[in-house]
Amino acid sequence: MQKLSILGGARLNGEVRISGAKNAALPILCASLLSSDTLQLDNVPELNDVATMRKLLQQMGVKIEANGSQLALSAAHIDKLEAPYDMVKTMRASILVLGPLAARFGEARVSLPGGCAIGSRPVDLHIKGLQAMGAEIHIEHGYIHAQVPGGLAGGRLRGARIMFDLVSVTGTENLMMAATLADGVTVLENAAREPEVVDLAHCLIAMGAKIEGAGSDTISITGVEKLHGANHRIMPDRIESGTFLVAAAAAGGNITLTGARADIMENVLEKLQEAGATIQVAGDRINLQMNKRPLAVNVRTAPYPAFPTDMQAQFMAMNTIAEGSAMVVETIFENRFMHVQELRRLGAQIEVEGNTAVIKGCAQLEGATIMATDLRASACLVIAGLAAQGETIVDRIYHLDRGYEHIESKLSQLGAQIRRIK
Ligand code: UD1
Repeated sequence: MQKLSILGGARLNGEVRISGAKNAALPILCASLLSSDTLQLDNVPELNDVATMRKLLQQMGVKIEANGSQLALSAAHIDKLEAPYDMVKTMRASILVLGPLAARFGEARVSLPGGCAIGSRPVDLHIKGLQAMGAEIHIEHGYIHAQVPGGLAGGRLRGARIMFDLVSVTGTENLMMAATLADGVTVLENAAREPEVVDLAHCLIAMGAKIEGAGSDTISITGVEKLHGANHRIMPDRIESGTFLVAAAAAGGNITLTGARADIMENVLEKLQEAGATIQVAGDRINLQMNKRPLAVNVRTAPYPAFPTDMQAQFMAMNTIAEGSAMVVETIFENRFMHVQELRRLGAQIEVEGNTAVIKGCAQLEGATIMATDLRASACLVIAGLAAQGETIVDRIYHLDRGYEHIESKLSQLGAQIRRIK
């Protein structure tokens, strides 16, 4: 199993190019299932989750041509309307094939995701939404089996008014994709407002979909009979952007992100300023300078535009070495403090009570061997390692490779002493 060795204490300096967003690329790859024409994508990040999604789509019959960060996907001939357990269990986002398959082919079989390190994460909202659109859904042998009456003979899902009990990002995306080919108008209420939902909507609109309101909590989709091919460039990854900025705020330094978008990360940038960083934005460049020990900052996760749960662990790492004490409240996922135990191994002082962690900043962390438990927890441990004294070994970094493109070479470029041990 691969590990990362980090020699902490180096300041980060220089430029780093931000990759395409994982959470936009995954649903957009699934959108290729909605048309028999070719979908051309640019700025697709090279990540294990993207590789898993490509494999899943190829198993169904999608033809994919790759050229660096460009992909051409053709779903002209689909012979298998199924996402098997062994793929869904490695990547929950596989559920995103459910809506497109049901909408275009009238049938889909997708394995239930099952448990996950950061909580139970059910998919009931995806299922209820499709049922409201007329799909018959049976759970059999651990699989969600969706059938649209008369589907194979051209029967379509029908437009519906769907109110989400709680905000779900992939739930919104799945139903938005399904609704593009439904008969009539679908209105999604209490929809997710995440920028990745907007990026998917832009791609679908380029494919001929009629969508209004993406980015607000009410999205209205008027179904069309067919979608066509399109070209689309994946938006920059705001979580990768935030992760590099927090790393520089924790380790100290002066870094510039290129190809980034500041307008979709206001909350994170404000929190970094509160921690004492100086931030300057010019076009697609974000510069952060930090010349002192960070100040502790309170964080409370909530759906966009509030503070993202995918940045919670990284801010926790910064808080462990900050001046003062901070409270981190996680309101989205019930078990997303797995990194706390590992941070404690580096000397961090953290108390957890329910969904709240109280972190008392200490002057110095000390390097140790620690283990990554999920994707963003891994990023948190890397940040802690960069700020710690001596060597930190981060084990199980396959989690990191799911969502960060070339992380160790990007950090090395910024002057970090980090290497992969095979
Ligand atoms: C997406 C992101 C993930 C991010 C999360 C929250 C992708 C591929 N992943 O995950 O990185 O951490 O949003 O911003 O975009 N829920 C239900 N029933 C459902 C669906 C969700 O109860 O049917 C609950 C979940 O358990 C969780 C909350 O709703 O407590 C939000 O989850 P959701 O927004 O659906 O997360 P994902 O879309 O899986």
